[in-house]
Amino acid sequence: MDLSFLSGEVEELKAKGRYRSLRRVSGPQEAEVVIGGEKRLNFSSNNYLGLANHPAVVAALVETAGRYGVGSGASRLICGHMDVHADLEDAVARMKGTEAALSFSAGYLANLGILSTLSGPGATIFSDELNHASIVDGCRLARARVEVYRHGDAGHLSDLLGRSRSRRKIVVTDGVFSMDGDLAPLPDLVEAKERHGAILVVDDAHATGVLPPHGRGTADHFGMRDRVDIQMGTFSKALGTYGAYIGTTRAMVDYFINKCRPFIFNTGLPPALAGATLAAVNLLEKERGLLASLWRNQELFRREMAKRGRPVASRTAIVPILVGGDRETMAVAKALFDRGVFIPGIRPPTVAEGTGRLRLTLMATHTPEMIHTAAREIDRALKEQGIESHGIAQA
Ligand SMILES: Cc1ncc(COP(=O)(O)O)c(C=O)c1O
Repeated sequence: MDLSFLSGEVEELKAKGRYRSLRRVSGPQEAEVVIGGEKRLNFSSNNYLGLANHPAVVAALVETAGRYGVGSGASRLICGHMDVHADLEDAVARMKGTEAALSFSAGYLANLGILSTLSGPGATIFSDELNHASIVDGCRLARARVEVYRHGDAGHLSDLLGRSRSRRKIVVTDGVFSMDGDLAPLPDLVEAKERHGAILVVDDAHATGVLPPHGRGTADHFGMRDRVDIQMGTFSKALGTYGAYIGTTRAMVDYFINKCRPFIFNTGLPPALAGATLAAVNLLEKERGLLASLWRNQELFRREMAKRGRPVASRTAIVPILVGGDRETMAVAKALFDRGVFIPGIRPPTVAEGTGRLRLTLMATHTPEMIHTAAREIDRALKEQGIESHGIAQA
């Protein structure tokens, strides 16, 4: 077997400035992390509220592991459905304001599951052009027609829905876009989907635990909890653990338990993680201070950047800082890293050609001093690369 394609293709990536490698972090996902033996300010983690190593979440993990062990031993339909899964799903349904909820082992699997279960031949999926890769892959698995509408453009969506003769129409969107930090125009999407009799799926991976007023997601933010058919989200970002959920009707959950292959043929979420996630959901609901700190930090960062003539459009915890070319993007990211500020550079295929960027994430646990430092160093690194005019992507 000739395996020369392995190194051949990796060399091609290197030549294009697109080679990626893993970075070792020694310790928890805190505002400051140790990488390569040195401390760096961490503006790269989705641990928005600091729950990934919150003492109450860690204690719940240990306590649940003591009671149920580590693994769930089987898929949920065999014997891997434990009390703690049911308790977690009830808590998620209360948080999302839905009749029922169902957990999955990862957000990636949940999106594959939602789209492949709802579609099939004769269905059409209408997908925002900037949706997360797991939605794109879900569309591929769905064996359905896929129509991609322009980013955040409900008018374009409405045209496509109006022209479609499909027997089942499914609209899918990120709530908060993962690389741009902007919000889906939910009221307009809801209006379009209701007019054309479509099902609406919203991915709340970066909205849960982030958006005001309660951190309960995009539908809650817009006061439209009853008008979104499936609210999907992950436990792995603001909730600080691992796994994912859908919040929806009981009938939909029942259908998924019977039809959704990534749910049926996958071992249940480890009970210890379900216990830890339950503690995280309870913290999110009770400790308003966590959300308030995150919003304060978002505001402070925006002010700091505006002071430097680089206004930030994003109103969420994800702030894209547009650089452009792959090499320039990585040069800015490296300059920042060398000065102790870790913000990942994002290149194609994760984002469109020519829109390489730093993807900065804010956390409730950043101090004002850390935020001042990040803004100052970003400005300096961009200036060194001669990037003055289009510093911040207008999300
Ligand atoms: C918008 C969005 N959806 C889904 C996922 C996948 O979630 P998970 O990491 O739990 O597989 C992610 C993150 O990775 C995401 O950003």
